Amino acid sequence: MGNIVFLLPSMVFVVLLHNSVAALSAESPTTTTDQLALLALKAHVTHDPQNLLATNWTNATSVCNWIGVTCGSNHQRVTTLDLSNMSLVGTVPPHLANLSFLSQLNIRFNHFHGSLPMELANLSSLKYINFGYNNFQGEIPSWFASFTQLQSLFLYHNNFSGVIPSSLGSLLNLEKLMLYDNDLEGHIPTAIKNLSNLKWLYLDNNKLSGQLPSTLFDHLPKLQHLVLEVNLLFGRIPTSLFKCQELQVLSLSVNALEGSVPQEIGNLTKLSELYLYSNNLTGEIPSIIGSLPFLEYLDLSDNNLTDSRNTWGTSFTCSSQPFSQ
Ligand SMILES: *[C@@H]1O[C@H](CO)[C@@H](O)[C@H](O)[C@H]1NC(C)=O
Ligand SMILES: *[C@@H]1O[C@H](CO)[C@@H](O)[C@H](O)[C@H]1NC(C)=O
Ligand SMILES: *[C@@H]1O[C@H](CO)[C@@H](O)[C@H](O)[C@H]1NC(C)=O
Ligand SMILES: *[C@@H]1O[C@H](CO)[C@@H](O)[C@H](O)[C@H]1NC(C)=O
Ligand SMILES: *[C@@H]1O[C@H](CO)[C@@H](O)[C@H](O)[C@H]1NC(C)=O
Ligand SMILES: *[C@@H]1O[C@H](CO)[C@@H](O)[C@H](O)[C@H]1NC(C)=O
Ligand SMILES: *[C@@H]1O[C@H](CO)[C@@H](O)[C@H](O)[C@H]1NC(C)=O
Ligand SMILES: *[C@@H]1O[C@H](CO)[C@@H](O)[C@H](O)[C@H]1NC(C)=O
Ligand SMILES: *[C@@H]1O[C@H](CO)[C@@H](O)[C@H](O)[C@H]1NC(C)=O
Ligand SMILES: *[C@@H]1O[C@H](CO)[C@@H](O)[C@H](O)[C@H]1NC(C)=O
Repeated sequence: MGNIVFLLPSMVFVVLLHNSVAALSAESPTTTTDQLALLALKAHVTHDPQNLLATNWTNATSVCNWIGVTCGSNHQRVTTLDLSNMSLVGTVPPHLANLSFLSQLNIRFNHFHGSLPMELANLSSLKYINFGYNNFQGEIPSWFASFTQLQSLFLYHNNFSGVIPSSLGSLLNLEKLMLYDNDLEGHIPTAIKNLSNLKWLYLDNNKLSGQLPSTLFDHLPKLQHLVLEVNLLFGRIPTSLFKCQELQVLSLSVNALEGSVPQEIGNLTKLSELYLYSNNLTGEIPSIIGSLPFLEYLDLSDNNLTDSRNTWGTSFTCSSQPFSQ
């Protein structure tokens, strides 16, 4: 109470001196906005086995001292929310959209379910989203495209279904896109080719089908990890893939790809892991694979490939063994 009496005159003084409304809203009103947003989230958590939020997220202390919460040092607004590994059960309320300074949102390894409220599209400062290992359902919302600052989008191991929205192609700062272990179907959108900063693309263990778009890899010069295994992809491996000179991990295993393994695989001189097993690939294994300097793991088994280095010409099988030149 004493504090309020003390503060009021000084706030009036600031207004008179600078005629600044912004100075007024810098402290308590905005903190309350974040507090209300987090209390709404707490209210949407139906099970909190370790009582973390119940005992820690209380009005007795500022939200900036709450577990999992980090605030900006100047403005005291919530910039990071990390509730990973808390075994929380619940849903994500629209109120979370009021955390307007939020740049990192990590709720992986919990049991959040339902779909994501569209209001979250307002969180335009987000750089990092991790919803991995939850039970989210429904389509990946096309309004994720409004996260224009986004660098990492991790939605792996959920129950997301439907197609990958083409609108993700407008996330030009995206470096890591991990959507593995979901129920995604349809084609890999050609719009992915827009993501010229992409380093990791993990779409494995879904039901993606169709051919790999021939121009998909034309402008992904930073791509390091491409993991598309266990899907329903068919057709040939597009030659644009061999423009991705930074590739280290390439897995196209357990699909229905056909045609040959192109000689240009030799262009991928940084490859350390190459998995093409369980496809319908034919022809000779390019001997240049044996010259890739950093290759450690190679599995080409369960195809119709022949090994040019064998005189008897049987199918080549080599199961996840470290590759020795
Ligand atoms: C905590 O603070 C919020 C916002 O100021 C208020 O709405 C709520 O009633 C408070 N809760 C308790 C238990 O005091
Ligand atoms: C809440 O958790 C934080 C971080 O573990 C801790 O520093 C703080 O003292 C806790 N606050 C309360 C009221 O338990
Ligand atoms: C969360 O759990 C995962 C898997 O058990 C572990 O790898 C990770 O380090 C944990 N993270 C935190 C912040 O505890
Ligand atoms: C926060 O968001 C909710 C739901 O989107 C809205 O109804 C409410 O007015 C907002 N509250 C504040 C304090 O901004
Ligand atoms: C989202 O942003 C729009 C426009 O900036 C604003 O009108 C709306 O109130 C915001 N909604 C929330 C939930 O913050
Ligand atoms: C997905 O949904 C199915 C049934 O609808 C359920 O058995 C499974 O556990 C869910 N998986 C995840 C990761 O939520
Ligand atoms: C791809 O990027 C261009 C600009 O480089 C933009 O005009 C276009 O809308 C983007 N495509 C998608 C699907 O976002
Ligand atoms: C492979 O590398 C050679 C020489 O470095 C280059 O001429 C060729 O265009 C590359 N092929 C592809 C598909 O990028
Ligand atoms: C490989 O091709 C044959 C003949 O076209 C087809 O019957 C078979 O299902 C294909 N296998 C896979 C794994 O795609
Ligand atoms: C692969 O080889 C098997 C046995 O030699 C043959 O039956 C099958 O048709 C071949 N598949 C393709 C796609 O060539």
